[in-house]
Amino acid sequence: MKRSLMVLTALVCSSVSLAATVAEVKKKGVLVLGTDPTFAPFEFKGPDGTVQGFDIDIARAVAKDLGVRLEIRAVGFGALMPQAVTSGRVDMAMSGITITAERAKVVAFSAPYYRSAQVFIVRGGNPGKFAWPADVKGKVVGVQANTTGQFVADEVLKPKGATLKAYDDFAAGLADVRAGRIAALVGDAPTVADLKKRLPGQFAQAGADLAAEDYGMVFARGSDLAAAANRTLARMKADGSYQALLNKWIVQK
Ligand code: ARG
Repeated sequence: MKRSLMVLTALVCSSVSLAATVAEVKKKGVLVLGTDPTFAPFEFKGPDGTVQGFDIDIARAVAKDLGVRLEIRAVGFGALMPQAVTSGRVDMAMSGITITAERAKVVAFSAPYYRSAQVFIVRGGNPGKFAWPADVKGKVVGVQANTTGQFVADEVLKPKGATLKAYDDFAAGLADVRAGRIAALVGDAPTVADLKKRLPGQFAQAGADLAAEDYGMVFARGSDLAAAANRTLARMKADGSYQALLNKWIVQK
């Protein structure tokens, strides 16, 4: 009885100490953001090597409202979601992370901050005449491992007879699209739009969107940082700075 109580107390205490709180962040004077900076325009390395983008500017605003500085830690998406957050290695994660019910069982999400979608990207001009939902049967479709693109493709494309190929690195999937080794790659709409702008003619979007989704900021479950982030988001929507960031970073269709 006594022992099980001790074990329980230890468990509760350890889970509490993993979830960084507003008070702890203020005390250490820094908010540590985990992000996978391969996802323009949300997070990417600029020509000077610094990590920048829409998500980074929002995280900076959250840090500023808390009165602390932002420290950016680059983490691969597979390790970021959710281990970097649940282990307390970072205080928060922003990486174009889609809010899902499954993920919400292990991490806490802020309110949605960006409406996105999963779309198909094909070679410029769509020489393979790839279309969704008309024809995926017998086609090889690429996905990025551990992303919602992979989850929805497993659920929706596989039963329709598509063969899925998972890439750790989105750029490797793009190279295969360009070389015609795969029919299409599933990716997030705003990143695909950005890519089309940066590499005109090389890629095209094809068929209908696969799924609509919302991005959220990610925190450890039980942390009051999520509420703090929501206050910053509401403040930015009210004072126009959220709209200014949309205009600065996101390619409008
Ligand atoms: N929105 C997708 C997801 O949550 C993909 C995010 C990938 N982000 C990145 N920085 N690589 O799974």
